[in-house]
Amino acid sequence: MSSIVIVGAQWGDEGKGKITNSLASCAEMVVRFQGGSNAGHTVSVSGEPVVFHLLPSGISVPGVLCVIGPGVVIDPVGLVAEIDEVRGKGIEVSSNFLIDVGAHMVMPYHRALEAAEEESRGNAAIGTTKKGIGPAYADRYSREGIPIGLLASFDRFEERLRAVAGRKNEMLTKLYGAEPLDIDGMLEEMRRVAERLAPHLADTPELVRTAIRSGENVIFEGAQGTLLDISFGTYPFVTSSHTSAAGVAPGTGVPPSMIGDIIGVAKAYVTRVGAGPFPTESFDRHGETIRERGKERGATTGRPRRCGWLDIVALNYAIAINGIDHLVITKLDVLDTFERIPVCVGYRIDGEETDRFPRNAEVLARVEPIYEEMPGWRASTHEAREDGDLPAEALAYIRKIEELTGVPVAAASVGASPHAVVQFAEIL
Ligand code: IMP
Repeated sequence: MSSIVIVGAQWGDEGKGKITNSLASCAEMVVRFQGGSNAGHTVSVSGEPVVFHLLPSGISVPGVLCVIGPGVVIDPVGLVAEIDEVRGKGIEVSSNFLIDVGAHMVMPYHRALEAAEEESRGNAAIGTTKKGIGPAYADRYSREGIPIGLLASFDRFEERLRAVAGRKNEMLTKLYGAEPLDIDGMLEEMRRVAERLAPHLADTPELVRTAIRSGENVIFEGAQGTLLDISFGTYPFVTSSHTSAAGVAPGTGVPPSMIGDIIGVAKAYVTRVGAGPFPTESFDRHGETIRERGKERGATTGRPRRCGWLDIVALNYAIAINGIDHLVITKLDVLDTFERIPVCVGYRIDGEETDRFPRNAEVLARVEPIYEEMPGWRASTHEAREDGDLPAEALAYIRKIEELTGVPVAAASVGASPHAVVQFAEIL
C-alpha cells in the first residue's frame, strides 16, 4: 500500500499534524489537498512546538517532498512569511516544497469581504477564521479566482488582478460601505512574493501519481475535520472545502482508484471552534477541565475551543463518509484525571432515539445526547508506549471505541511529544 489519507473525524483540531509528521518519516511525499491558512497544525520539532498553516506537516522531516495540491487556497504573502518563520527555526524549505500551479490565491479583498460578510450576518455569523477562505473558494467556483501559476506571467497576473480587484472594491464600497483596497500596493507586494514563490511552482498531479505508481509512500494530509466539510458537514457552519477523504481526488489530481487506506484522527473527546451545533458540548467544570488540560485554544485564531465528550454517533458518521479504515485517538492523556467519562452512544431527537447523525444543523441543535459512562483511570498515561503500559480503564476506553465503531484503533496519542504514542498496529 503506497498512499494513505489522514483526515479529521470531528470538527478539526484532532491532532492530524502530529500524526502526519510522525508517519512522514516512513513516507516520500506529503500532499495537502484542501483548505488554506485557516488550518493550524501544531507539530513538535526538537521539543519545540511549531505551527504550520499552509506548509504540509511533513516539511520538518528531511527527504520528504511536501506538496500543496490544486485544491488548496493559498495566501501568498502569508505563505512567504510562514516559510521565513519555519526556516528561522532551522527547518529546510527549498526543493523539498512544491506548490501546484492550479491552487488558487487568497487575496486581501477576500479577507476584507469576509470580514464585512461576517459582520453583516450579526447573530447568524459562522465564526470563521477570517482568513478569506470562503470568498477565495467562492471566486474559484464563480470563475473569478486567480490560480497561483499566473504569478509566473506577471503582466497577465497584473491585468487580471486589476480587473478582479476593481470589481471587489465596488462591492466593498457600494455594498458594505467599507474602504476600497489599494490595488497598486497589492501589486507591489505580490511582485515581491512572486519572486520568492517562483522556484516552488510546479505541475504536481503527475508527480504524485508517478510516486504512487512507483511504490513510494504518499500521505494525503487533510485539514479541518469531516463535520466541517462543505457537503457533509453541519452546513452552514462549515468551512468551504471538502475536508473529507472525497476531497483528495479533485484536490490533488490523483484518481480515487490510486488512494489507499483512510486514517481517521479523532480526539478522545470533542472540540469545536466557531458557531454551530455541538450535541455533547460540556458547559460545566468538566468542559473547563478539558479545555485547560488539553490547552484547547485555536492554533490559528487563539480562540478558546468549545469542549465536550466523545460523540460516537458523529464519529460513526465520519467513518461512513470517509470510509475510515483505522482510527487514531489523540489526547487520551487529557482525560487522565476524570473519575467517570461519559461517551455519547445515541441521540434523542424530539423524543425519538436514533444512532443516525442528522446533517441538518437545525435538527442537530435539538439533539439530546444519550450517554454511557465509562470509569476513568485517574493515572498518568504520558509514559505509556505499548498497550500493556496503559491503565486497564484507559485500554477499556479504547476497546469501547472499537466496539462502538467497528473500526480498529491503530494508535493513541498520550502527549505532545512525537514519541508519546501507544501503537496498537502498523499503519504505513
Ligand atoms: P473558515 O474555514 O475560516 O471559513 O471557517 C469556517 C468554520 O470552520 C468556522 O467554524 C471555523 O472555526 C472552522 N475552522 C476552520 N478551520 C479550522 C481548523 O483548522 N480547526 C477547527 N475549526 C476550523
